[in-house]
Amino acid sequence: MTEQRRTVRDGYDSLAEEYFDRRNDDPEWVLTELTDRLDPRDRVLDAGCGQGVPVMNTLASEFDTVGLDFSASQLRLARTNVRGATLVQGDMTALPFVRDSFDGICAFYSLIHIPVDEHEQVISEFARVLSPRGYLLATVGGDAWEGSNPDWLDTGVEMQWSFPSIEETYEMLDRVGFEVVGEFVVDDEIGSEFPFVLAQYDPS
Ligand SMILES: C[S@@+](CC[C@H](N)C(=O)[O-])C[C@H]1O[C@@H](n2cnc3c(N)ncnc32)[C@H](O)[C@@H]1O
Repeated sequence: MTEQRRTVRDGYDSLAEEYFDRRNDDPEWVLTELTDRLDPRDRVLDAGCGQGVPVMNTLASEFDTVGLDFSASQLRLARTNVRGATLVQGDMTALPFVRDSFDGICAFYSLIHIPVDEHEQVISEFARVLSPRGYLLATVGGDAWEGSNPDWLDTGVEMQWSFPSIEETYEMLDRVGFEVVGEFVVDDEIGSEFPFVLAQYDPS
């Protein structure tokens, strides 16, 4: 496990409760850009599901939902917070699912924590487990940035982020077989603004 991965995982293990306090609200409006394109009971992966609210609980009320995260503390909270989803501890760079397992994937504020040189690997993994014509809705970076906050959310816990520019993300999506069908800018509860990309997998 790389140092960055360990910092992010151990960081969420330490500050899961504090992060949950900030996320205990309605899901971002942008979630409907994915859910409106899915059918009831479609299979959805919440990649980096964290504490499970407000995103995975919303998904699980309508879809056959699996949440994946590598933080044991986050999954513990998700187990309490979400009814009806399957929870899996795993890493987004090597998804423990067979090809064509999902009709939709959402990745809210998770891909942006993965070392930039592994973003294409994660996007390839998303393509591998999505059905043809399936949708991905993910938080991405606007301008390229790598950095850390030694006292994130005033917890004294370090957190790291790493992402390429949105243009580089689009190039990766294209190489892997995704077509971008929407780009949205969303304010989060932490006081940041992030682009979200909606992309459809077209392996042909
Ligand atoms: C900012 S939180 C977002 C949680 C949730 N998606 C939400 O919208 O509130 C990011 C989550 O991604 C998870 N994560 C980061 N990198 C990961 C990786 N490589 N594999 C699995 N989970 C990861 C973290 O453990 C954390 O729970």
